[in-house]
Amino acid sequence: MTDTESDLLARIRVHGAVPRHIAIIMDGNGRWARERHMPRPFGHRSGMKAVRAVVEGCLESGVEWLSLFAFSQENWQRPETEVSALMSLLEEFIAREAADLARQGVCVHVHGDLDRLSPAAAAAVERVRRETSGGARLGLNLFISYGGRAELVRAARLLATDVLQGDLLPEEIDEAQFRSRLFTAHCPDPDLLIRTSGEQRLSNFLLWQVAYAELYISSVLWPDFDRAALYEAICDFQRRDRRFGRVTP
Ligand code: IPE
Ligand code: IPE
Ligand code: MG
Repeated sequence: MTDTESDLLARIRVHGAVPRHIAIIMDGNGRWARERHMPRPFGHRSGMKAVRAVVEGCLESGVEWLSLFAFSQENWQRPETEVSALMSLLEEFIAREAADLARQGVCVHVHGDLDRLSPAAAAAVERVRRETSGGARLGLNLFISYGGRAELVRAARLLATDVLQGDLLPEEIDEAQFRSRLFTAHCPDPDLLIRTSGEQRLSNFLLWQVAYAELYISSVLWPDFDRAALYEAICDFQRRDRRFGRVTP
């Protein structure tokens, strides 16, 4: 750990309240590569070490849940060469990291329209789920082939099916019922949503779940996002006044 990282971590610990759940829109790989006159997949590859860094940072600072937006439903519309490079990197990441993640107590969950994945990518997803299922220190949600609106439509369909089967009455549908049909039913909503590369939009990520998340836009491009950058975001979060519509006493 560098001096900056340990100073920031000490500051986080003094303050106390760490976000339980951090969600990150990992953006800016393409621009990072372009700045280096390299093809876009070079940026995606470099982004893998930032994933490692934020996992370490969450483990170190006591964050319980980390949600990473790795590939959106809309990203399928990118050129075929870029899509296949991203899928190969996913397989490579899992092959390289699954054992370490399991050893560190990280439990990996993967969410999205996984039917669209290639057989090799789907097998990698199954493998990381299986090998890390015992992890109890950090829950890592990976969103792949994911769209927030599609997740909401899926939840509505699941509710409709339960009503049709007579397991649920329409008047019983409330926020808790709806929430329990989302991919993230197993974890609390994100407290902090980070987006890198300066873009100020949600891009269809976790539309329901971020209702009361604190937003943190970092100008850093994803491959340069490191543990110190994560700790800066947590420090910033600790200075926020979360009112949830009420007034501060
Ligand atoms: C984020 O980086 C990775 C994915 C969306 C898969 P981008 O590829 O979007 O990089 P920019 O935004 O073009 O710089
Ligand atoms: C959002 O980034 C998706 C991921 C980070 C996986 P994009 O780069 O695809 O989003 P837009 O196109 O800037 O909205
Ligand atoms: Mg982008």
